[in-house]
Amino acid sequence: MISIRKNLLFLISAVFIIGTIIASVVIFKSAHEESTEVFDGNMMQIAHVLSKTNSGIVTSYNGYLNDEEEVLIQIWGNDGNLEYSTHPNILFNKQSNTGYGEVKFKNKLWRYYTLNDEGRTIQIAQPYMLRNELILEMGLKFIIPVLLQLPIMLILVWLSIAKGMKPIIDISEEIKARDTLDLSPLNRSEVPIEIIPMIDELNDLFKRLGHSIQVQKNFTADATHELKTPLTAIKLYCDMLTRTTDNQKQKELLIKLQSSIQRASHLIHQMLTLSRQETEKFTDYKNEIDLASLTHRSIASHQVLIDSKNIQLTFLNHEKDTLIKGNDGYLEIMIDNLITNAVNYTPQKGEIHIAVSKKDTKTILTIEDNGPGIPESERENVFKRFYRILGSDVIGSGLGLSIVKDIVSSHDAVIAIKDGQNGIGTKFEIIFPT
Ligand SMILES: Nc1ncnc2c1ncn2[C@@H]1O[C@H](COP(=O)(O)OP(=O)(O)OP(=O)(O)O)[C@@H](O)[C@H]1O
Ligand SMILES: [Mg+2]
Repeated sequence: MISIRKNLLFLISAVFIIGTIIASVVIFKSAHEESTEVFDGNMMQIAHVLSKTNSGIVTSYNGYLNDEEEVLIQIWGNDGNLEYSTHPNILFNKQSNTGYGEVKFKNKLWRYYTLNDEGRTIQIAQPYMLRNELILEMGLKFIIPVLLQLPIMLILVWLSIAKGMKPIIDISEEIKARDTLDLSPLNRSEVPIEIIPMIDELNDLFKRLGHSIQVQKNFTADATHELKTPLTAIKLYCDMLTRTTDNQKQKELLIKLQSSIQRASHLIHQMLTLSRQETEKFTDYKNEIDLASLTHRSIASHQVLIDSKNIQLTFLNHEKDTLIKGNDGYLEIMIDNLITNAVNYTPQKGEIHIAVSKKDTKTILTIEDNGPGIPESERENVFKRFYRILGSDVIGSGLGLSIVKDIVSSHDAVIAIKDGQNGIGTKFEIIFPT
């Protein structure tokens, strides 16, 4: 799992470490350049001072060069003989050139300065090793504080990141400590602006979640209420049945009982369809479905009902290609509900006209009847759950059209209720995208 805190610390530490390395190299380089200049300047100065004095005034050490401040001073006379040496046992040669130079002597690299003064040669020399010791010492004196500040800086960075991350941690603690049903918005006033979009998204999610929980609650309450009616009737008829001995009365009660059971089972069937459709609402339907043959199949399954009411049904389809993208199971439920409504609400000997047509690239299904129609003021309401227009003796739960609406919107289609032909009856029109 990615940790912002660890990632930040890693990146900032890397930047600090690289920075410290670069600073150390620069310090060493400049210490080296500066001290070379100082050493060389000293050598030249000594040579020039000595050229103004007589030989023999400088005490000879007769030892080795040990200290970085120590130099080998040699003076040759006009005759070319070595007149003086601070360290006679070091047989460093007189160099042929004058000025600065470098030469290897006894496996060490030496730096020298040779001055020719009216035939006399004054030569100052020193192994680089001695100089480097001083350069190293000087460099370390600068670098050690730089290195020492590194862990202190990293600790400060760690603490700063922890402080910077605190609002995020606080928010997650707040969410963790919440009651499951607490969907009140998170306070956005005390959070850094960078995480405000996240808080807004969360609050928006809480809002939608709250709404959907409320919808579910309403649905459960309505469903319970709706189920109560047929169940109370079933209980009542059962009680009456146990008490009556009259055959004719028993028959009547049994018919009523049957009707209540049918009502309850229809309601449960519609509720199950609705909740199944609800959970699969966001599925991406990619199957190619032939809308005309699906409609044909649905009409066929209603034929007995249509015939029993002597309804005249026509199905019009002149289109060759009526393919749409979708889920055939749900589309069939949708068409079934619309045809059932048309058949149920149309009186005996009524007419139903069903058509599949195309307009531009869109496929249109229309189901039209010459029944009582749906007043304009009710056209929005009939899509609501459990909503029924009073005054019809058709058994129903008021869920059919909300199931239809859900299926329509999950197919990116649109549904409209219009007047039937000559302003009589109802026309449902569903337009599918390509
Ligand atoms: N073709 C139609 N003609 C006249 N009224 C209709 C038609 N279709 C639906 N309605 C009205 O709209 C209401 C809601 O219809 P819907 O299909 O949602 O529920 P239902 O038919 O009452 O019950 P269910 O379909 O769940 O068995 C119906 O009660 C009815 O009053
Ligand atoms: Mg219905």
